[in-house]
Amino acid sequence: MHADIVVLPGDGIGPEVTAAAGEVLRAVAQRYGHRFRFEEHLIGGAAIDATGEPLPAATLRAASSADAVLLGAVGGPKWSDPKATVRPEQGLLAIRKALGLYANLRPVKPHAAALGASPIKPHLLQGVDLMVVRELTGGIYFGRKQRSAGPGGNVTASDLCEYSVDEIGRVVRHACRLAVQRSGRLTSVDKANVLETSRLWREVATQVVRDEFPEVTLEHQLVDSMAMHLLAKPREYDVIVTENMFGDILTDEASMLAGSLGLLPSASLGEGRIGLYEPIHGSAPDIAGKGVANPYAAILSAALLLRHSLGLEAEAACVEQAVAAALDTGRLTADLAGRQAAIGTRAATAAVIEQLQLPCQVPELRD
Ligand code: IPM
Ligand code: MG
Repeated sequence: MHADIVVLPGDGIGPEVTAAAGEVLRAVAQRYGHRFRFEEHLIGGAAIDATGEPLPAATLRAASSADAVLLGAVGGPKWSDPKATVRPEQGLLAIRKALGLYANLRPVKPHAAALGASPIKPHLLQGVDLMVVRELTGGIYFGRKQRSAGPGGNVTASDLCEYSVDEIGRVVRHACRLAVQRSGRLTSVDKANVLETSRLWREVATQVVRDEFPEVTLEHQLVDSMAMHLLAKPREYDVIVTENMFGDILTDEASMLAGSLGLLPSASLGEGRIGLYEPIHGSAPDIAGKGVANPYAAILSAALLLRHSLGLEAEAACVEQAVAAALDTGRLTADLAGRQAAIGTRAATAAVIEQLQLPCQVPELRD
């Protein structure tokens, strides 16, 4: 197959980990006879420095006509002055919105080799396999932001949180389709005891499941107790659907089940085939440019790209197996290694590529 992939390295460790994921995709193309064309564009702080804008028109144009977009990370201390009006993160939010990518899939499946890196007791982690579906283009992230000066110079700031029935319904449907393919269990997370948007969320989720997915078992959880249950009994959950900000927070928390933020990939999807794939870890400015960043989350994001945008399920599974095998053989980056010897970004990438050359145990693979 032929595919056009737009790569947006962004800031911090973004360029290092997207380079790693790009190498793995090239190895997949070579091994399985595909042609992937890569085109790099600017986003985030790097784009602000070069053009003054966090999402230049050329980047959005290229992304809109690509088959898939692979993104590293945006942001860093250089651009984080609270008084700044132009910020790297605006580029990320704008591209998610412009491409209509409202469903952000964040799988969390702890790997045996990384259990030691998790602060959670290993027996609680056996068998954990979560799919968090985070709403990505609505809520408080996108509502009106304001500041006003009150009496006596008492400045007030506000961020509006809004959700419509349609916005809630489409992401809940996406989560239901995933639940049907998995265990049939869906947990919807909200704060319905306090927020009106959450009460609407709960109503819509209940109705969508009742009317369209009767085979799905739906449970509602309040976000505060969900934060606790995620650590206390993570095995009891499967597909979790929630609004934008709750999903952002709960998935950083859930990454601790996997041992490191450096292991969690994500896929941002909408109605079309185009998707945006990015590790959830962010730009990690403290380790940027040192060659020590964990590339596995970016590589696993490339696997999601193969699966969801290119329809290459077998190749995606082979990349996931190759990462698992690299971890199994002790190829651990500094975030995972503990007292063991750590390897750098390049060695971890090479380990995955080496594994990809071996036979891959996936049914129906055209070798
Ligand atoms: C994420 C990140 C972003 C978000 C930031 C960088 C804007 O934390 O993808 O989880 O909050 O969505
Ligand atoms: Mg986040």
